[in-house]
Amino acid sequence: MRPFVFINVAVSADGKMDTFERKSSSISSTEDKTRVLRLRAEADAVMVGGQTLLAESPKLTVKTPELRAERVAKGLPENPMKVGVVSRADLRLDGDFMMAGPARRVIFTTSQTAPEQINLLSEHGAEVYILGEKRVDLEKALERLYQLGVRRLLVEGGGRLNFELLRLGLVDELSVYVAPKIFGGHSAPTLADGDGLVESAAKTLKLVDVRVLDETGGVLIRYQCIK
Ligand SMILES: NC(=O)c1ccc[n+]([C@@H]2O[C@H](COP(=O)([O-])OP(=O)(O)OC[C@H]3O[C@@H](n4cnc5c(N)ncnc54)[C@H](OP(=O)(O)O)[C@@H]3O)[C@@H](O)[C@H]2O)c1
Repeated sequence: MRPFVFINVAVSADGKMDTFERKSSSISSTEDKTRVLRLRAEADAVMVGGQTLLAESPKLTVKTPELRAERVAKGLPENPMKVGVVSRADLRLDGDFMMAGPARRVIFTTSQTAPEQINLLSEHGAEVYILGEKRVDLEKALERLYQLGVRRLLVEGGGRLNFELLRLGLVDELSVYVAPKIFGGHSAPTLADGDGLVESAAKTLKLVDVRVLDETGGVLIRYQCIK
């Protein structure tokens, strides 16, 4: 068993999640940021990939007090569980992923992470699971999340984690906010990177909804992922 998995990404009109500089570009409009906070508030857990985790140490919390209060009124913790998928879990202990909360923190890693680092992360309150030698076994990670009580999992990138989940058929829904700007650059990350698929293996999506979200001309597209 696995949770319902939904990916949310913000991209430029040329499909890039960031510029070639990879400095975590601001792509979302104010309206989109509000929408994403609601998505987070409705999730049991929020997952990010290793590159995003190590470079940005995102907070992944629900920033509005009203949404946190809604969760608490439903008997849920203030913030969803934060989940990192990282081959070598050399993340900063004083970064926002570890510090911002309160929130349960789960890290899926591989045997490449030094035992001393695993001890340090555990001492700082993270639950660390070793699932693989080279890369994290994503099917096992989702099974484990289900066992931990996660029924709705929001994935917030980056491109390589998104791609692997899509490739393995582990995604139920994909929401893409498209900002009216162009980043360009062959090395700039796209919403699904990794090794790519041959044409016959392309994943098929079913359009659920499309709408203009804000005055900037940002468009929100929602797809259902066909297995
Ligand atoms: N606009 C948005 O919505 C948005 C959201 C999030 C991130 N971003 C951007 O995306 C960029 C980062 O994306 P990214 O593609 O470089 O990295 P990523 O998807 O964040 O992380 C991939 C990392 O996870 C590790 N990993 C371990 N097991 C894995 C598995 N089974 N499948 C996939 N990855 C696995 C990989 O390890 P290995 O080292 O073994 O390959 C790799 O280091 C940044 O520029 C960030 O700003 C944008």
